[in-house]
Amino acid sequence: MDTFWAERDSLGRLGALLRAANYRTDQLPTLLALDTSSDTVLSDIGRFSLYHLGEVSLIDDPAAVLFELFLLGGQVQAERWRLLAPELAALLVDLGLVTILPDRERRGTVAITEYQDGFFLSDRLFEHGPDGFTRDWPDGGCMPPHASSIELLRGVEDLDLPGRSFLDMGCGSGFLSQLAASGHPQRVGVDIGARSVAYATANAAINGVDARYVVGDCTTYTDPATYSRIAFNAPDSTTAFAFINTTLRDLLDQRGVAQVWFDTEITAADGSLDGLLRRMIPDRDSWHLSTATDSSSPFTLSRDMVRDRWIPPHSLLAVGRAERAAYLDALAEREVLEVQSVLLSLRAS
Ligand SMILES: C[S@@+](CC[C@H](N)C(=O)[O-])C[C@H]1O[C@@H](n2cnc3c(N)ncnc32)[C@H](O)[C@@H]1O
Repeated sequence: MDTFWAERDSLGRLGALLRAANYRTDQLPTLLALDTSSDTVLSDIGRFSLYHLGEVSLIDDPAAVLFELFLLGGQVQAERWRLLAPELAALLVDLGLVTILPDRERRGTVAITEYQDGFFLSDRLFEHGPDGFTRDWPDGGCMPPHASSIELLRGVEDLDLPGRSFLDMGCGSGFLSQLAASGHPQRVGVDIGARSVAYATANAAINGVDARYVVGDCTTYTDPATYSRIAFNAPDSTTAFAFINTTLRDLLDQRGVAQVWFDTEITAADGSLDGLLRRMIPDRDSWHLSTATDSSSPFTLSRDMVRDRWIPPHSLLAVGRAERAAYLDALAEREVLEVQSVLLSLRAS
């Protein structure tokens, strides 16, 4: 990943060539004649690859080759590689985004996710090669945009509140600051991982977005500026609350709005989301705070589901029969009543 960050012009060209090849997520179900939305494809891309990679590898179309390489974790043979436009193929090699294997097959070195006409390079969640699935996640890896990114993006877009500046805390690939913040002249992203900051910076060049990305920890990050909008797709509820209780107030404009997404367990001791928020945000009454939960989220388990020990097939909380049984046992041990996907909106009062 180290070679291509400085190549702003080449990265801009890459975006144009991917667009010309029709590399759009909604093109994937179209090629497969499936009635499936882009959001469904991206929310569980591993399962999609497991079921459909074989079929995609039979489609003679440049976009299909790109999906194999960069979304479904596959490898392509030399003759399929030749379906790509020569300029795109050469640029992918120059930028180090593909590697040539000893048997002349090509493999991607990054994932590339298209969403709303933006392209997001990131680390690869998995490889789906001839020997099946493997996962070799780098320390501090940069996650591809996934279901939680899309849930928060929708929340940010729904608020439809233009402002002067947008802070993308835990920016990862830069998904939120590059898609949701177009009305904000000043865009900044912060992530604890240097790889994420490097990917987000490269993606801004690909997408022609003027944004600045820096390494920082949400509990200690300081900035001379304050922001009219802040979004944080938090890795877990502990980090979400730590952010709210430390730096958030100083980073937010007096009339600014922060939106923090996380999924969380509601225990018998807390009784409800409100009980959890009262315990975890000691100065809760000094915020105007609203909550939205999503019962259809793949991060949600209702009280009935927990009680009946039933996890819906689309759930991302635990995968596979054994993992699901162990997860339900652990929920029972921790006296968890339900699991909720939560979007908190906060304004200083
Ligand atoms: C769930 S990912 C969200 C990535 C991206 N914003 C998105 O929506 O696709 C959470 C991100 O938070 C970052 N992160 C984790 N702990 C952090 C911390 N203490 N301070 C800042 N970023 C943190 C991770 O490196 C990761 O990129």
